[in-house]
Amino acid sequence: MEAKSVFGVYGLGVMGRSISLNIADKGYALSVYNRTEAGEETVVKDFMDSHGHMENVQGFTDMKNFIASLQRPRKILIMIKAGPTVDLVLDQLIPLLSKGDVIIDGGNSHYLNTKRRYELAGSRGIEFIGAGISGGEEGARKGPSIMPGGTKESYDLVAGVLETIAAPDVSGKTCCAYIGPDGSGHFIKMVHNGIEYVEMQLLAEVYALMSIHMSYEEMAHTLEDWNQGESSSYLLAITIKILRKREGDAYLLDLILDKAGNKGTGSWSSKAALDLGLPCTMMSEAVFARYISSFKERREKYSKLTAPSRDQKQSPDLSHLRNAYQFARVINHQQGFQLMEMASKTYGWKLNFSEIARIWSNGCIIKSDLMNVLHDCFKEQSDLLDMPQMTDQLTKNEKAVKKVLAYGLEKRLSLHCFSSAYYYWVDMTTNKLPANLIQAQRDFFGAHTYQRNDRSQDQFFHTRWE
Ligand code: 6PG
Repeated sequence: MEAKSVFGVYGLGVMGRSISLNIADKGYALSVYNRTEAGEETVVKDFMDSHGHMENVQGFTDMKNFIASLQRPRKILIMIKAGPTVDLVLDQLIPLLSKGDVIIDGGNSHYLNTKRRYELAGSRGIEFIGAGISGGEEGARKGPSIMPGGTKESYDLVAGVLETIAAPDVSGKTCCAYIGPDGSGHFIKMVHNGIEYVEMQLLAEVYALMSIHMSYEEMAHTLEDWNQGESSSYLLAITIKILRKREGDAYLLDLILDKAGNKGTGSWSSKAALDLGLPCTMMSEAVFARYISSFKERREKYSKLTAPSRDQKQSPDLSHLRNAYQFARVINHQQGFQLMEMASKTYGWKLNFSEIARIWSNGCIIKSDLMNVLHDCFKEQSDLLDMPQMTDQLTKNEKAVKKVLAYGLEKRLSLHCFSSAYYYWVDMTTNKLPANLIQAQRDFFGAHTYQRNDRSQDQFFHTRWE
């Protein structure tokens, strides 16, 4: 009879396998399970055969045996595709578990589904943790960023394993921290992905701007320089590698169809922002930029409507571009953190933004130098626009963004995220917007009433306009 395992992983897909190896490497006694549906008959056997040297790992295809192999309270991390399958797995798992056992959903589940599952599991005496896990396959294997939400008591039961397998921050502390109750961990991961979409789109816009006059090698060389200081990030680093990747005589990037896919988390963030009344304009633009790219055939057809530009090749000023890039990144993080702040207030989550920035400083896809700066700044303020370090950069770089946008207009380049960053900044720093006219129109046709400059804001007025 084998000794009981301290942890279980349900699902040996790419992420499940990588995280299992990470846990096993750290010396934990681990049980892994995968179903044996068509096409998956040998998943567990293959995993065990290729990692036979790991004496601390037991493999199962029978769920009851898997569960029986775990120490109580049992701790099971499910690593399966987000969506209805999670409910099916919970339906099978929960009846086999005992009061106090803990299930962790490590997929990209929607936070409202997590809240529902947390309540359902809780009503059966089972602890449910919705844990955002970022870093892709390599992160899962070598050290991801982990964002767990659930009860603090249940987190304390699994903290040992999760904190050991996560990436270290600059001071060696783990990039895993308790986020808050119910769906908060998955909400945070969703916002992470919204920020990720914008960081990716900004780099795509930089690439479009540079492509006019620079070779891929020149771009990579310039971006290497950007990647030394405050603009450095994981996504910038991989972009440099992508620019240099060749296939035969060609650059691989030139062979990739310009149709961007998505799995939904960017649109979830944008929808959450709309529902919470927040102007996360950059996330929405990044999602729309992907959507519009997918109309490839129509874009090809309508491209014939426009004459090719006869402009001379002339470069954007690279120092302006770099400053504009940093400006837009700061606004992106402002919008993302504001979204979390509003969710925290609305749902009573008491999120710690300094800690969130810290656990995003390594292991995850949006890890960057900026996160370390924000980790410190959020100790004092919860709004980037109240942080002098950030507003100094924004005011200083406004001119550069205008130049880049003017260049983009001239060259007929769509700069979704650069322009929405700029307009957000303009709106947020404008005392008087034309919204008074909107209010008058609403009152004219719908008697929706308006407030006045010359009266208390508690009072609402209606005018008979005609
Ligand atoms: C991560 C990533 C990961 C994945 C997303 C986004 O943090 O490891 O965000 O979760 O890349 O699924 O994918 P899409 O671009 O397909 O929406």
